[in-house]
Amino acid sequence: MVDSESFIDEKVAEIEAAIGDSNAVIALSGGVDSSTAAALAYEAIGDQLTPVYVDTGLMRKGETEEIEETFSYMESLRVVDARERFLDALSGITDPEEKRHAIGEGFIREFETVAREVDAQFLVQGTIYPDRIESEGTIKSHHNVGGLPEVVDFEGIVEPMRDLYKDEVREVARALDLEEVVSERMPFPGPGLAVRVLGEVTEEKLEVAREANHVVEEELEEHEPWQALAAVLGKATGVKGDNRVHGWVVAVRSVESRDGMTARAQKVDWATLQRIQSRITGENDTVSRVVYDVTHKPPATIEYE
Ligand code: XMP
Repeated sequence: MVDSESFIDEKVAEIEAAIGDSNAVIALSGGVDSSTAAALAYEAIGDQLTPVYVDTGLMRKGETEEIEETFSYMESLRVVDARERFLDALSGITDPEEKRHAIGEGFIREFETVAREVDAQFLVQGTIYPDRIESEGTIKSHHNVGGLPEVVDFEGIVEPMRDLYKDEVREVARALDLEEVVSERMPFPGPGLAVRVLGEVTEEKLEVAREANHVVEEELEEHEPWQALAAVLGKATGVKGDNRVHGWVVAVRSVESRDGMTARAQKVDWATLQRIQSRITGENDTVSRVVYDVTHKPPATIEYE
């Protein structure tokens, strides 16, 4: 475990030295990684840093508003509404890796636009150690790592947390006085809800996933999972009122882990599972079935795509 205070001093100095009098942008996703990287970089270079939050339409319920509030102390914060552009870019794509690429490229285009506007030569990223390991192997390409330098026209990329594990990042976040909603937040993948809807990303599936993820996070909070999520799998037959319906199947997953590289499915009590089921099917007319995923990682991954 790193010593957070000396880590912060060291990284602030390193970021200052790397960026100098230039300007930088950082992609803010609302997760603990990018928030911590942003806070570190802001401490180092102040308003020379422009944190960019791209509203992709793939984010969790209420996330955009939370970001605006949490980072309102950074005057240079930019919130970009790119929802339509991402939906268009994802249209027709069903392959998970292609989705990641489309999203990764979309992100970079949005940043480049802002970076040009603010004349930024550097990109700061919240990449952490497990992201790099998984991208080096063949497990999955993480959109915030894989292949970016080739498409980016920045002078340099700064990754202050590239050697940290998640629990170390949380320590640093607490030491930086980041709000609890950020430092204790469950991990959320960069491609967002796009990897929690199987197959093509549509507005309808996203809406189902957004609401279901909200229910799962709320209901499982006190079980303190490392990560809990809901994914829209496909359609199956059900009965609502007097009618047979062909409704969405939502999978609920809750795991314990240290770093996301391996994970164990969490043993959740029946009453909680039934409450989750009844809220998800009750709040959304188009959901006919809820299932609980009991698979560890390996053999499954944590996300569905
Ligand atoms: P998997 O599904 O590979 O997930 O077992 C391990 C951890 O990584 C997150 N994850 C991602 N994070 N970009 C990210 O920034 C991605 O493409 C991505 N895919 C998975 C996942 O949420 C879990 O915490």
